[in-house]
Amino acid sequence: MSFWQIRPDSALGGLSNGAMPHPCAGPSGPALTMAGIALPGMPEEIAQDAAHRLLGLKIRVHHQLLDRVNLALLDKLPREQIRREVDGIIADILTDESEALNKGERERLLSDVLDELLGLGPLEPLLQDETITDILVNGHASVFVERHGRLEKAPTRFQDERHLLRIIQKIVSAVGRRVDEASPFVDARLADGSRVNAIIAPLAIDGSLLSIRKFAKKPISIARLVELGSLPPQMAVILRGIVEARLNIIISGGTGSGKTTMLNAMSSFIDPAERIVTIEDSAELQLQQEHVARLETRPSSIEGKGEVNQRDLVKNALRMRPDRIILGECRAGEAFDMLQAMNTGHDGSMTTIHANTPRDCLSRIEQMVGMSGIDIAPRSARAQIASAIHVVLQVGRLSDGHRKMLSLSELTGMEGETITMQEIFRFHITGRGPKGQVLGQFEATGIRPRFAAALAVAGVRLDPALFRPDTALGAA
Ligand SMILES: Nc1ncnc2c1ncn2[C@@H]1O[C@H](COP(=O)(O)OP(=O)(O)OP(=O)(O)O)[C@@H](O)[C@H]1O
Ligand SMILES: [Mg+2]
Repeated sequence: MSFWQIRPDSALGGLSNGAMPHPCAGPSGPALTMAGIALPGMPEEIAQDAAHRLLGLKIRVHHQLLDRVNLALLDKLPREQIRREVDGIIADILTDESEALNKGERERLLSDVLDELLGLGPLEPLLQDETITDILVNGHASVFVERHGRLEKAPTRFQDERHLLRIIQKIVSAVGRRVDEASPFVDARLADGSRVNAIIAPLAIDGSLLSIRKFAKKPISIARLVELGSLPPQMAVILRGIVEARLNIIISGGTGSGKTTMLNAMSSFIDPAERIVTIEDSAELQLQQEHVARLETRPSSIEGKGEVNQRDLVKNALRMRPDRIILGECRAGEAFDMLQAMNTGHDGSMTTIHANTPRDCLSRIEQMVGMSGIDIAPRSARAQIASAIHVVLQVGRLSDGHRKMLSLSELTGMEGETITMQEIFRFHITGRGPKGQVLGQFEATGIRPRFAAALAVAGVRLDPALFRPDTALGAA
C-alpha cells in the first residue's frame, strides 16, 4: 500500500495547525505569501489576482494532502518521490478544476507546498539563497534579511502568528528544545548548522521574533578576507605569525561584526599536529584540522536541571590535554577560567568578546571575571589579564556594510592600576565615497611590537618596514 493512501494520524497537527490559511482567508494577508509571482511591470490587481488564484490552489493541494498522506512516513521517503506524488496531486486538482497554470506558476506552487510540508515554509527560499547571511523575522508579517552587510526587507511573510510559531516549534523541537509561555526564548540550530534564536510572547511584544545567522557552507578563509578587503595581505602574514608563535588572542567586535569568522579563519594557521579543544554555546566554528575536540554547552532541562555552561567546559577542557583552547565567545564567568588557562601554559588560546574598542574589551573581561563569583581584587584581575592576553584584534562592520579588521593592539603590561596597551595597526577612515562607501586605509602606527621578538623565536621573521607608518598596506 502506498503511503499516500493511508489516512494521516499523529503528524497531522503539523500541517493543519495554522500552517495554511483557511480557504476563506481575507485578501490582505495571504496574497503576500506568494511573493515572487508578481512580475515586474504587472499591474497590481492582476498580480494580486494571480497570487490569490495560486493561494487557493495551494490550500486545496494541502487539503488533499491531509486526506491522502500519512505524514508520519514523510521523513522516511526520498524527497524526489514526495515531489512526484505532490506533483501528481497538483495535476489531479488542475484537471478536476479545469485550471491552467504556466510552468513557472506550477513550479512555484510545487516548491511552496514542499517547503511547507518538509521544510520551514517561507524560510526555505531564504535559507537556500547563498547571498543571504542573516534572516530576521519580526512577527509573522515582517521578514528582513542581510545581504552584503546590509539589511533589506524580504518579499515574504508567514500566514499568521500561529504559522510562524509552528515553524519556530519545528526548529527548536528538532534539537530537543521547546519554546512556550513558560520558557519564551531559546537558542537552537538548524540541521545545516545555522544559529537560531527565538523569542515569543509575552517577551516579544509585537509577535514572535526569530533570528537566524546562516551557517556559511564554505567558511570565509583568510585569503578570502584579504580578497574582500577586510584586511591587507601583510596583515595576514602577521596573523599567521601570532598564531604560530602561540600568542593568546582576543578578537573583539560588535554584534555581527565578523568575530567568529575571523576566529575561524585564523584557526587555519594552527599546526594540524596540535590537539585543539573548542568550546561554544552553539557550535559555529568550522576548523579544518583533523584533531579537534568540539564541546558545546547544554541549557537546563524543563525541570531546571542538567545545565552545563562554558565555565564547566573550560575547566573540563583543561583535563583533556589540549594544545590550544578555542572559546567561541567569552560572555561571562568563563573569562576567569580562560585567563587561568592562558596563564598556566595553554598559550595560543583564542576567543572572541563583544566590545566596541580594544580598551572596552579589557574592561569587559574584567567585568566578566567579576561574574565568575571568585573574589579577586580589581588590580589582580587586571594583572592576570595583562599577563594572559597578548593581542587584541578589533573587527567592525562599517556603515557601508563592509567588515574590516579595524585595529591590532598588543598588551604590554601594567602601569600602576592600568593595563598598558599599544596599537600596532589600524584602519584609518578618511571619508566617504559618492555612493556612501567608507573610504580609508590600513596603516601601521609606527610602533614596533614587542611580539616581534616572540615571532622571531617561533621562526616568523617580519620585515621591519611593515611597521613603518609610510608603508602602503592597502586602501578601501
Ligand atoms: N570580512 C567579512 N566580509 C564579508 N562578510 C563577512 C565578513 N566577516 C563576517 N562576514 C559575514 O557576516 C556575518 C556575521 O559574521 P560573524 O558570525 O563572524 O559575526 P560575529 O561578530 O561573530 O557575530 P555575533 O556577534 O552574532 O556572534 C556572517 O554571515 C559572515 O559570513
Ligand atoms: Mg560570533
